[in-house]
Amino acid sequence: MSDELISKLLSPVRLAGLTARNRVIRAGAFEGLCPGGIPTDRLVEYHRQLAAGGVGITTLAYCAVSNNGRTFEDQMYMHEEILPGLRKITAAVHAEGGAVAAQMGHCGYFSKNAELTIPRPLGPTGRFNELGVMRGIPFSGSMTKMDIGQTLREFAEAAALLKRAGFDALEIHMGHGYLLSQFLSPLANKRKDEYGGSLHNRLRMPVAVLHAVREAVGEDFPIWAKINLSDGVAGGIEVEDAVQVAQCLESEGIDALQMSGGFTSLSPMYLLRGERPLQHMIGVEKNDFQKVALRLFGSYIIKEYPFEELFFLEQAKVVRDAVQLPLIYLGGVSSAENMRTVMAEGFDFVAMARALIRDPEMIRRIEKGECAYQTDCNYCNKCIATLDTPSGTRCVRDEEDFYTS
Ligand SMILES: Cc1cc2nc3c(=O)[nH]c(=O)nc-3n(C[C@H](O)[C@H](O)[C@H](O)COP(=O)(O)O)c2cc1C
Repeated sequence: MSDELISKLLSPVRLAGLTARNRVIRAGAFEGLCPGGIPTDRLVEYHRQLAAGGVGITTLAYCAVSNNGRTFEDQMYMHEEILPGLRKITAAVHAEGGAVAAQMGHCGYFSKNAELTIPRPLGPTGRFNELGVMRGIPFSGSMTKMDIGQTLREFAEAAALLKRAGFDALEIHMGHGYLLSQFLSPLANKRKDEYGGSLHNRLRMPVAVLHAVREAVGEDFPIWAKINLSDGVAGGIEVEDAVQVAQCLESEGIDALQMSGGFTSLSPMYLLRGERPLQHMIGVEKNDFQKVALRLFGSYIIKEYPFEELFFLEQAKVVRDAVQLPLIYLGGVSSAENMRTVMAEGFDFVAMARALIRDPEMIRRIEKGECAYQTDCNYCNKCIATLDTPSGTRCVRDEEDFYTS
């Protein structure tokens, strides 16, 4: 394949009102580095480094729209007090010539957040809370219409705050089993009202969020959604549903879509692929019950999926053939050759998480002529076990003793 594809990848591109310097996006991958939900200078440095390494757009992961939208306590939720910290992140990225998006999310029914201001987490339908059971939050409740209205306001307020903080784009998390993905999924949405039942109804909440966010940031501000191609679990959505989700969001005015898959609480390895880092997860787990549970049941609960390069490509192509809007490919991009393939297949952006966790400099290297670049990330997924550690999310492939030290 010709290097016109790499030139295209590395040339400036416009998305709504934003001109990004290239088509490479560092996908939202929780960084840690915000103890108690407060962004630290290390988090600022984390994203500055990614921008210095050449990505067009870096993404600040999982900015919960409210305290009750957090999965756990050491995660940011959007409120006025953290505005100065957020501004430092955007300023540092801009100073390196990059752009920065914020991933807006809400955990819905699964949470282990001990600081909830409500008796239990809320999703479309109350159910067993797999993530919270060992923290004494075994069940979730169903959102009332008032809760839905409140959540829409939270998304709008968070969007306005993030725009004021200097972010260049917003990603609405509609995938990975989080709240909006729960609304979309027949597995988690058993509602009998206009928000449940048909896919048309299950789309109502995600579409309302899109409108609320759009209203808050204006027409020219880039908004994309991360959606599931498949939930990766029986009874969840499949690619035929994803096509309809994509078509609907396109007609409702979204600027782009990033495609992924999997349900964090039920099929976490579906979205990652590769090794299941159980030993390391047990090693860093602070909760003794959770440690024992992981040791006893981890290998039954967490199903393994082998890693493949471009593991979502075939499903993503089905969506590509059904829509016209810009598409962001994500999943198993491991080399410059993979990036050429993604460009040749007609996708507009290439997003990566682990290859950039392993080597935040990779885009600079390709720019400097390493056209056969191949990551040496081995998809051991030990980085997953680092997100709750003081040094934040990083590659620990070469640190054999990181979870025991
Ligand atoms: C350490 C780590 C943390 C992640 N955190 C998030 C997150 O906060 N939000 C999200 O949407 N996806 C998250 N992901 C998933 C990635 O965005 C991406 O979907 C997945 O890693 C597959 O892309 P890759 O093959 O380029 O790594 C995370 C992945 C990793 C490895």
